[in-house]
Amino acid sequence: MSETPSGSTLPRVLSGIQPTGDSFHLGNYLGAVRQWVAMQETHDAFYCVVDLHAITVEHDPRALRRRSRVAAAQCLAMGLDQDVSTLFVQSHVPEHAELAWVLGCLTGFGEAGRMTQFKDKSTKYGSSATTVGLFTYPVLMAADILLYTPGHGGALEVPVGEDQRQHLELTRTLAQRFNHRFGETFAVPEAFIPKDAAKITDLQEPTAKMSKSSSSPQGIVEVLEEPGPLRKKFMRAVTDTGSDVRYDETEKPGISNLVRIYASLEGISYDEVERKYAGSGYGTFKKDLAALVADTFTPIRERTHRLLADEEQLDRLLAVGAERAGAVAARTMEVVRDRVGFVARGR
Ligand code: TYM
Repeated sequence: MSETPSGSTLPRVLSGIQPTGDSFHLGNYLGAVRQWVAMQETHDAFYCVVDLHAITVEHDPRALRRRSRVAAAQCLAMGLDQDVSTLFVQSHVPEHAELAWVLGCLTGFGEAGRMTQFKDKSTKYGSSATTVGLFTYPVLMAADILLYTPGHGGALEVPVGEDQRQHLELTRTLAQRFNHRFGETFAVPEAFIPKDAAKITDLQEPTAKMSKSSSSPQGIVEVLEEPGPLRKKFMRAVTDTGSDVRYDETEKPGISNLVRIYASLEGISYDEVERKYAGSGYGTFKKDLAALVADTFTPIRERTHRLLADEEQLDRLLAVGAERAGAVAARTMEVVRDRVGFVARGR
């Protein structure tokens, strides 16, 4: 077992994922968790299942509890190791909500209103279902990140997909604003956005990002899906006119998305994928891609089910994560409370 991650001198990393579905999808895997697994080797890594974010839209409490465990189990099944990095549930560390309040008091109303995800979601759900929580979602995300700031001189990297870039920008702005008003406190975080897998798109609507809230389930490839249905989704994926396997985002968004997925899973370039499938047509390529994805996901699915079979053990692992994350968060909040001017509680 390594030293406790919070005692480490390695650069720090923090990221989060919402437990909003019964399974992660291919975009979550390639755009986020796969990077998390790689970065735990080289960083002092903190990863959280963001259940507080998941209640910003209407939810079922039983489903949320189940999905939070499923999310954590998938992270572990994908290769996160609780002895090497720290995986925890956001609501187990109450400092996240506390810092969000402080940062919310530094965020302009107009500034929050400019967040495109808020604009998209509030349009989608309508004004009666658009809550204040949804509006302040990015502020809570900033708090998630800044709580794990390593202090003077340290770096904090945040691996996310392209869709989170604007939230990261707001986080950087809030860190700088806090430092300017109250004295140097937070390291300004850096987004780490993987080049190729940053935006995996919907198999049925290749210009829209693959998303848990997509209108057609046929467009989303779920990590916990059985190989049969998974293959069908790839065989039915919308492709473009012509038959050559070629990366061209403007002319061929459908096939380009499939090339991106293949290249990303195999760790090869788009050129190499094109050369490998020159003259073979879409059918063969899709069949091979489906097999590649199924081979990647099958062991993850099996490990996830094994982890979920022992809920007590899973909860114990998460308690270890909460303990370590909580220790870091408590230290940061102590400094924040002091800087902001709150009276320290007498002992
Ligand atoms: P969430 O749960 O929507 O997505 C989790 C991660 O998956 C990435 N992602 C994608 N990447 C590539 N292609 C896609 N189609 C795709 N869809 C999703 C997301 O970019 C993300 O990295 N707000 C965050 C959760 C969060 C967070 C944080 C992230 C809360 N606090 C602190 C980082 C740091 C979110 O909605 O993720």
